[in-house]
Amino acid sequence: MKEKIEKIKSEALVEISSAESFDVAEELRIKYLGRKSEFTNILKGLKDLEGDERKTVGQLANIAKAEIESAFAQKEKELKEKSFDFAAEKIDVTMPAKKMKRGHLHPLTKIQNELEDIFTSMGFEVADGPEVETEFYNFDALNIPKDHPARDKWDTFWLKSEAQSVERGAQKERILLRTHTSPVQIRFMQSHTPPFRIIAPGKCFRNEATDATHEHSFYQFEALMVGDDVNVGNFKYVAQQFFSRFFKKEITVRLRPSYFPFTEPSFEFDISCTVCGGKGCSSCKNTGWLEVGGAGMVNQAVFEAAGYPRGKYQGFAWGFGLERLLMMRHKINDIRLFNSGDIRFTKQF
Ligand code: FA5
Repeated sequence: MKEKIEKIKSEALVEISSAESFDVAEELRIKYLGRKSEFTNILKGLKDLEGDERKTVGQLANIAKAEIESAFAQKEKELKEKSFDFAAEKIDVTMPAKKMKRGHLHPLTKIQNELEDIFTSMGFEVADGPEVETEFYNFDALNIPKDHPARDKWDTFWLKSEAQSVERGAQKERILLRTHTSPVQIRFMQSHTPPFRIIAPGKCFRNEATDATHEHSFYQFEALMVGDDVNVGNFKYVAQQFFSRFFKKEITVRLRPSYFPFTEPSFEFDISCTVCGGKGCSSCKNTGWLEVGGAGMVNQAVFEAAGYPRGKYQGFAWGFGLERLLMMRHKINDIRLFNSGDIRFTKQF
């Protein structure tokens, strides 16, 4: 029996090693290890052998079977390597890659970055303040007293709960969603001494009905320059420089008298029409000018509220809407598109 097992094994190993294809290897597997093979018959017959012999023959048969199986495994690996079609598997490294969808910044974030770049290159610092403000910073310190009709201009979202108010001296102060970025002026002045120039871009909120040019949440851009002898000419120069760089063409700034409690004198400022250059066209309703925002020389009462001595410093401040500026540059006809979440709109920028 032992010789028989040895003979089958050596024949099998010779034949397996010379097999040239998967088909031949499979035939050999059936021949040597299949259900009807001589080897399987030997294993089946083990039960009829006597004790010791059954043990030794059994061990020998199992070792032989393991050797044959490993020869098959080795052969299969060899045949696979041989049959690998390198030509069919080659990678064309010149093929264009699959396009990946990439996100990008929202147009309002982009314009804010752009504005910050222009202003920092003119020596301005970027200042920040909270969106939830106190009545003091949003109104009182800006020379808008409690019962003054000017307060009505800023339709305010008040935070109602008693817990949502802060102590100021003996009084409780109401808090609100800031209606403009001007409170940042006060916060900055309280902790800095002139001269300085800052910009404060940020979100503002107004309790008003929305339409094509009004949103309840929108962005403003504040600028403040304070020193010993800052004047209206400085404001006009900075504004002209800024708008010319922003619109990438020569822009002229025009001031019209206006009223803001926190500036004296105050003006609305317009820029020469970015489409016709001032000749008159449909974009500027034939006036040659586009309205941009409010500005003025900082009211001495505001300096005083921020802790500066009255009459010691002079400065200009301005504020305008970022959405409205982008609308002008890109001919966007509805402000509500900015918050619509419609990527057909945002992906154009
Ligand atoms: C102010 O808010 C002043 N704080 C601006 C200022 C700063 C004046 C410093 C003087 C000195 P006004 O309410 O006009 O002003 O708003 C300024 C700009 O914010 C407007 O010109 C407009 O561009 C934008 N804006 C105001 N309300 C809305 C709104 N509901 N939706 C979109 N933009 C708005």
